[in-house]
Amino acid sequence: MIVQRENWGSKLGFILAAAGSAIGLGNIWKFPYIAGENGGAAFIFIYLICIAIIGLPVLIAEILIGRTGNADPVGSFRKLSNSKFWTAVGGMGVMAGFIILSYYAVISGWSLGYIVEAMSGSFNNFVDATDSNAHFGELIGNVWWTVGLQALFMVAVILIVFAGVQKGIERGSKILMPLLLVILLIIMIKGLTLDGADKGLEFLLNPKWEKVTGVTVLMALGHAFFTLSLGMGAMMTYGSYMSKKDSIFTSAVQVIILDTFIALIAGIAIFTAVFAIGQNPAEGPGLIFQTLPVVFAKMPGGYIFGILFFLLLTIAALTSAISLLEVVVSYFVDEKGWARHKAAITFGIVTFLIGLPSALSFNLLGDTKLFGLSFFDIADYLTSNIMLPLGGLLIAIFVGWVWGFDKVLENVKQGAEKLFEQSFWRIQVWKFFLKYLSPVLIFLVLLHSLGLF
Ligand code: PHE
Repeated sequence: MIVQRENWGSKLGFILAAAGSAIGLGNIWKFPYIAGENGGAAFIFIYLICIAIIGLPVLIAEILIGRTGNADPVGSFRKLSNSKFWTAVGGMGVMAGFIILSYYAVISGWSLGYIVEAMSGSFNNFVDATDSNAHFGELIGNVWWTVGLQALFMVAVILIVFAGVQKGIERGSKILMPLLLVILLIIMIKGLTLDGADKGLEFLLNPKWEKVTGVTVLMALGHAFFTLSLGMGAMMTYGSYMSKKDSIFTSAVQVIILDTFIALIAGIAIFTAVFAIGQNPAEGPGLIFQTLPVVFAKMPGGYIFGILFFLLLTIAALTSAISLLEVVVSYFVDEKGWARHKAAITFGIVTFLIGLPSALSFNLLGDTKLFGLSFFDIADYLTSNIMLPLGGLLIAIFVGWVWGFDKVLENVKQGAEKLFEQSFWRIQVWKFFLKYLSPVLIFLVLLHSLGLF
């Protein structure tokens, strides 16, 4: 049975979907707090370098494998390499998709629940962080709240993936991404106009080089992977629906610009408000769910901005989550011949079930620890710190060394003929980064994650 494989309706469709995958909790929840904790502008500077010299080359490589293989990550690697080892690398991506989505949906569920909290006015009587911490603790300690919202979020993810590449993911991204940008701009303008916003800007933009260590560089690099959805086949899968008439180089640059831009304005929006209201900026992961509600309680118009903020966070999470489920679904559709509908529902439910131990880490299973880590922490650590960098390393090696660079050239040129005629040096720079710089640096990140140095 040969069924016509799905594809994007337009180049913009790919850009918005890929940007939707990239822009997620990583940009709005993680980036501001790690930048805040690691030297502000100094971290941002290092992060931007990592994005340019490693993120971009690996992103191009990943999209290229998918577009050329024209299949899910397993099928693409098999077609291009004919080797069991490389096919297994695709398989690791599918596994990572399962695991990331399983815990990603838990935090996304909290975000969804916080829209309701904001609407019901429960932030209004917060006086300081103790109140919001207690409230947060109570909510995530409640099994039904956590699991119910995780389930609800997964239903939304399943529905979009169920509807297909063009009718679901592309259409959803075309509505949600502009909405996300508008909401974020509104919140940023609000932040910038608050009294005392300049202290927030200074915090974010004034480099504190003394806070930068070797570990900062590794964190910046690790985050570059996570935020660009690299190393697990999400960009490969989205690339597999891309037309050969479009330029991978240009598209990848556009996706990166959007992702970076959103992370930066999220940082500005959050820190201007946090400083203007006089809260502690170095709150780590609790910044969003614990510090911000107090900020909203005290800020003029905070009721509306609280709702808008969590709506924004949920939208960002949703467009990333669909790319994670799509990796798994594309595998079962392409490799196992499943119908998309059946795959979306089945693996949406399976992912929800795999995510239960993560959701319960904050309540019922609070005391269950493996190596001192909760299920949630293990799932996060295993994927963000090990599977994604390992996947990225192997992708760089495959395209840089194994595939054969004449074939790589032939394929990456498709849709970008003019660009390469005008400036062939781009290819040379890309090749150099992919062959030498990326593998070495990513390898260092991996060693560090494994505690080897
Ligand atoms: N890039 C997403 C974020 O920043 C997370 C993600 C990682 C999505 C890997 C898909 C694949 O939140």
